[in-house]
Amino acid sequence: MDCDIKDRKLASAGAKRIDWAKQQMPVLSRIAERFAEEKPLHGLRIGACLHVTTETANLMLTLKCGGADVALCASNPLSTQDDVAASLVVNDGISVSARKGEDRETYYAHVNAVLETQPHITLDDGADLVSVLHSGRRDQAATLIGGTEETTTGVIRLRSMEKEGILAYPIIAVNDAQTKHLFDNRYGAGQSVIDGILRATNMLLAGTNFVLCGFGWCGRGIAARAKGMGANVIITEVDPLRALEAVMEGYRVLPMEEAARIGNIFVTTTGNKDVIRSEHLGLMADGAILANAGHFDVEIDIVALREISVSRRQVRPYVEQYVMPDGRRLNLLADGRLVNLSSAEGDPASVMDLSFSNQALSIEYIAKHHSDLEKRVYAVPDEIDREIARLKLTVMGVHIDALTDEQEEYLSSWQAGT
Ligand code: NAI
Repeated sequence: MDCDIKDRKLASAGAKRIDWAKQQMPVLSRIAERFAEEKPLHGLRIGACLHVTTETANLMLTLKCGGADVALCASNPLSTQDDVAASLVVNDGISVSARKGEDRETYYAHVNAVLETQPHITLDDGADLVSVLHSGRRDQAATLIGGTEETTTGVIRLRSMEKEGILAYPIIAVNDAQTKHLFDNRYGAGQSVIDGILRATNMLLAGTNFVLCGFGWCGRGIAARAKGMGANVIITEVDPLRALEAVMEGYRVLPMEEAARIGNIFVTTTGNKDVIRSEHLGLMADGAILANAGHFDVEIDIVALREISVSRRQVRPYVEQYVMPDGRRLNLLADGRLVNLSSAEGDPASVMDLSFSNQALSIEYIAKHHSDLEKRVYAVPDEIDREIARLKLTVMGVHIDALTDEQEEYLSSWQAGT
């Protein structure tokens, strides 16, 4: 088995944390129990490019229970938990190629190592497996029966491949399931991004001007949590509907040029590039904090930050301080990479329970239905979404009402009026 991890001796610490996460992933655990009996993935090789966290470990173990051979690499150079990688290799015999802090070259060597296993199904978070495969390894597409994608940015990339007519195999957009983005992006990132900023800086949020760029699914969650902790939340947006929603939620909405002058903490979560640029950096106050929660490290123009600063130094773990020619100090968290996965542990297990249950059931769906699927980006089937919501409510002990026959008839008819 090929693997490249930091330290095998971390395996027992990793196993304990994986088990801790498992306790908070009851829906995925039920799926794993069923998979162990039915083996729906028997004989399939699965290549996964995901944040190597305790929750991902539980997904890998679920797929293994289903009979699959799994190979895993990281979907971000800074998000790997080295003890988790060690445990998967040493205790579970899963092939992992990931080291926290790996350079760009190693990152892509690891992506290629996973593709070397000739997977039948790819599992991506940001579409790096798919994009490397389409760039230089297209001949491999013949072996592939399908793939899944975890995040907004990955789905955007895949839809553009579909539009250009170059997508070589079918992909299920797990991100677009309601039981994914309504919960993981909003409540998961909402909490863990704040956690990442606090662990890196130990700052008090109350009373700060907290500028959030992008009022999408992640942004709504982060804004609500920052507001709840007493920050004055300011939103920047480019979409008039989202901006209007932010206004109605009671946030101040400003263009970046004005927000830059008054912000203490800046968080980008747009999925776009150059959201904070040199003209904004020039306006920021001494001590400003810059953090990114979007998938790639392109939302804050780090190249510009390096170019206009006169010096930089590491002042705390995950905090790099850039000194401007006029003496102002701007603090970049986690190299501008996903702050919640770099300086904290990513989304909590109970919310990843929903996202990764979608992954497991979507992969089972591909295994069963791949011959009916075309080279397109598909939504998660509605019955999977509803089944996951139903299971989560059951394990939470929450009961809901059912429609009466009369109500069902009423809702499907048009004759009944006032
Ligand atoms: P979304 O599409 O719901 O929201 C993005 C928002 O940013 C939109 O409202 C858009 O109008 C706005 N936007 C785009 N360009 C902008 C600009 N220049 N200035 C201000 N606003 C701008 O996307 P979602 O689901 O919130 O995801 C955002 C990013 O976060 C993606 O890259 C996604 O992959 C990533 N993500 C990160 C997670 C984490 O754990 N940190 C979890 C889930 C997603």
